[in-house]
Amino acid sequence: MSRHEHEPTEAEAAEMFEPPSWEERYSGEQKVWSGNPNPQLVAEASALTPGTALDVGCGEGGDVIWLAQQRWRVTGADFSANGLARAARHADEAGVADRTDWWQVDARTFAADGRSYDLVTTHFLHPPDGGMVDVTRRLSQAVAPGGHLLVVGHAPSGVFTHLTTSHRNAMFLAEDLLPALPDDFEALVVEQRPRTMVRDGMTVDVHDATLLARRALR
Ligand SMILES: C[S@@+](CC[C@H](N)C(=O)[O-])C[C@H]1O[C@@H](n2cnc3c(N)ncnc32)[C@H](O)[C@@H]1O
Repeated sequence: MSRHEHEPTEAEAAEMFEPPSWEERYSGEQKVWSGNPNPQLVAEASALTPGTALDVGCGEGGDVIWLAQQRWRVTGADFSANGLARAARHADEAGVADRTDWWQVDARTFAADGRSYDLVTTHFLHPPDGGMVDVTRRLSQAVAPGGHLLVVGHAPSGVFTHLTTSHRNAMFLAEDLLPALPDDFEALVVEQRPRTMVRDGMTVDVHDATLLARRALR
């Protein structure tokens, strides 16, 4: 999230979790994200055999493109049409359009509806009001038998005091998500992993809440 010039009211903050706010962020010409794959994705997916993958909250498609370059067949999902259009353009430019699909969907009402993937991943989605537990439960339904679920977000930290209360409350620890895992999942990684990020030209130390779980083979 970016810094605000004034502290938003809680009503303004609530709007920032909704599609119109993200459509606006993705409406200009400038890239919002680096385009580099997220480190926890690289760390975990590199050890898996490529198959089908779903990246929810894919934004501009950095993770989708990296997975496609590793020979995964990837669906990028996001509730922002502008974000998905950018992601599709970037995938085209990267030469992986033939390994990617796009799906406009709100993670808060996500239903697998018979779709299943060898890897379901999401990075920094952060729905409000502790909503990541329910989102994790929903996404788990889309994991194929023997497949993996990787959920990564910002762990709460003093580094984020400039954000609104709503945004700080949307952060989570990996262990907060454990109740969302169905019985046939085994948690393989439940950690806050240290990472440095650059914000406003300064390097800051953060922790990525990282949950990796595997669904049993039936
Ligand atoms: C912080 S960005 C992260 C983008 C990308 N995963 C990355 O790590 O670079 C969050 C993304 O999640 C999307 N998003 C936020 N809430 C969502 C929701 N409820 N359903 C689907 N997408 C959502 C936003 O449109 C945005 O693209």
